[in-house]
Amino acid sequence: MVVERKTQVLVVFYSMLGNTAALARAVAQGAEEAGAEVRLRQVEELISKEVIDRNPRMKEVKEELTEIPIATNDDLEWADGIAFGTPTRYGAMAAQMKEYIDKTGPLWAEGKLVDKVAGVFTSTSALHGGQESTLLSMITPILHFGMIPVGIPYSEAQCMFELAVGGGTPYGASSVSGPNSDIPPTQNDLTVARVLGSRIARVASKMISVEAERRAA
Ligand SMILES: Cc1cc2nc3c(=O)[nH]c(=O)nc-3n(C[C@H](O)[C@H](O)[C@H](O)COP(=O)(O)O)c2cc1C
Repeated sequence: MVVERKTQVLVVFYSMLGNTAALARAVAQGAEEAGAEVRLRQVEELISKEVIDRNPRMKEVKEELTEIPIATNDDLEWADGIAFGTPTRYGAMAAQMKEYIDKTGPLWAEGKLVDKVAGVFTSTSALHGGQESTLLSMITPILHFGMIPVGIPYSEAQCMFELAVGGGTPYGASSVSGPNSDIPPTQNDLTVARVLGSRIARVASKMISVEAERRAA
């Protein structure tokens, strides 16, 4: 069955120092390259303006990100596929992303997120700083929503075998920003992030076709 509309992908992220934002743009690019209509959104900041203004780097990143709208529950409902991105905070997701997820109660209660396709991405300072625990912790709410989690098979992103310091895991895309959080995602990291976006779009598109066939039967 031919589905008339484009697959809709939401890439929603939190970023304090820009690394997760760079991954988010690559995930969005991958979804677009796979033919999806993409919404790139950030979650609300919880750090006060006074604190941000005292930190030149944080201030610069926040100014760069002002063009990106704040994500709402409507964006989640609109999407067929969703990528959630957050920096790692002590091996888990940032409070800003958790707050966004915790505000989805009405959507969860009505089963509005069921059968949507979801993937995750993160950035850490340290190579072994908890990327996989963060990614897995983000997959937990995805399962509660009834979404279908997708990761990144090694067959689709062979650069994950790269031994140089960098990110990229089967659980989701990632980068390692170093002790000062100032090493941007590598080309490999960005490739893996694009593969994640493309995979979310392609699997979501298949889900739309399956649902269209079910309704038509
Ligand atoms: C409160 C706090 C906790 C953090 N916890 C970890 C951690 O557990 N492991 C790690 O490798 N990096 C940790 N980091 C570093 C960030 O995850 C890292 O700088 C990341 O690249 C920032 O992403 P962003 O540039 O998108 O903000 C932590 C940073 C903060 C501020």
